[in-house]
Amino acid sequence: MANFFPRWTNLLPLKVAVCLGALGAGVVAGITYYGTPKAQRVGYQPTQPIHFDHSIHVGQNGMDCRYCHSFVEHSGHANVPTANTCWNCHEHVKKGSPKLAGLRSAMAVDDNHVPLEDGAGNFLEGEPIEWVRVHKAPDYVYFNHSAHLNRGISCISCHGDVQNMEKVYHAESHSMGWCLDCHRAPEKHLRPLEEVYNLDYDPTEYLKENTVIDTEGLIVGKGEQIKEPEQFGKFLRAHWGVQPKESCATCHR
Ligand code: HEC
Ligand code: HEC
Ligand code: HEC
Ligand code: HEC
Ligand code: HEC
Repeated sequence: MANFFPRWTNLLPLKVAVCLGALGAGVVAGITYYGTPKAQRVGYQPTQPIHFDHSIHVGQNGMDCRYCHSFVEHSGHANVPTANTCWNCHEHVKKGSPKLAGLRSAMAVDDNHVPLEDGAGNFLEGEPIEWVRVHKAPDYVYFNHSAHLNRGISCISCHGDVQNMEKVYHAESHSMGWCLDCHRAPEKHLRPLEEVYNLDYDPTEYLKENTVIDTEGLIVGKGEQIKEPEQFGKFLRAHWGVQPKESCATCHR
């Protein structure tokens, strides 16, 4: 699985694209759009060193994604939590479970949570948990999490309903065509900012519970109430002035 993203994908195609220049850009984009190996990636579900189950932690226990993926809203890169984050709970919950053996060795404790020693009175160091990366953009692609989350795009639009996954898999292709489909019509995905981390968000319900008036007359007319989810997406787009770019330099720098 180590070469799931073969090295050749890294720089060669971009160099070719740059050489072809503006003239060839349209053609290249066309090939990329249809030619990216989507089938290979969707469904990719590597085995992880600890069977961490999002459906237990998020689906059943209602944890917020940001408790563990704490960088996403502030940084370009998302992060996977350190063992200490897990230990906050698992010091108390299911402490001796065989399923948590990897966590105990990362924290350098035995099954009874007694710190491990080398025999000469020195505490041992833990071995970090080697999570296997599932989503990885090629090096020549610039991507930024916070730029999306702070503009009303939810994790679900790009990663699927992770809260129900017993084991994370690649739900969307993350191909260039996929990025562009949304950049061309983001209104299908936009949500009010306070709903970005709400996994049960339903625009129809939201509009029943909240009155949204088009004060600027951007979509349905000045002072009119917005009632349809479709109008709502378009309204958010116009109201915030959301205009995702499609130029090559946006994602290839
Ligand atoms: C209790 C901690 C915890 C919470 C809460 C949590 N995650 Fe995770 N997440 C992890 C860990 C650990 C991994 C790495 C292991 C794996 O892939 O299952 C991970 C992996 C992922 C990955 C795959 C990362 C990669 O390698 O590409 C995605 C996507 C993800 N989580 C999204 C979410 C979303 C969306 C939520 C909220 C609905 C969420 N997570 C909530 C701990 C958490
Ligand atoms: C907010 C508290 C909390 C955090 C943080 C947390 N867990 Fe859990 N975890 C739970 C609860 C609650 C259960 C369900 C226990 C049960 O079934 O009774 C659980 C169950 C598990 C299980 C299944 C254990 C078994 O024997 O069935 C594993 C494995 C696990 N967690 C791994 C992790 C890992 C790895 C992390 C860090 C990425 C983590 N957890 C972070 C609360 C937490
Ligand atoms: C607009 C699409 C998009 C949204 C929204 C999004 N992601 Fe991602 N995510 C990606 C892409 C693309 C990658 C691969 C990025 C890379 O390799 O630099 C990724 C990678 C990740 C990773 C792996 C990072 C690592 O270093 O191991 C995690 C974890 C993750 N996302 C969690 C989340 C969570 C949690 C949310 C919501 C709070 C979220 N993502 C929202 C597209 C998205
Ligand atoms: C579900 C919708 C959606 C998807 C999928 C998506 N984007 Fe975006 N993207 C947006 C929106 C909305 C913005 C914000 C535009 C604005 O601020 O006007 C944005 C902005 C950006 C920006 C500009 C950020 C900045 O720093 O100004 C980059 C770069 C970007 N996206 C790259 C990507 C890449 C690469 C992918 C695919 C891996 C991707 N996007 C997939 C909706 C999406
Ligand atoms: C919204 C972000 C975005 C924009 C805008 C964008 N690309 Fe891409 N491009 C990507 C992503 C993501 C990939 C990686 C696809 C993959 O890994 O499946 C990619 C891959 C490529 C590749 C490699 C082809 C391949 O199949 O591996 C070329 C060549 C390319 N882009 C050229 C361009 C050109 C030329 C433009 C301008 C017309 C452009 N891109 C605009 C996101 C973008």
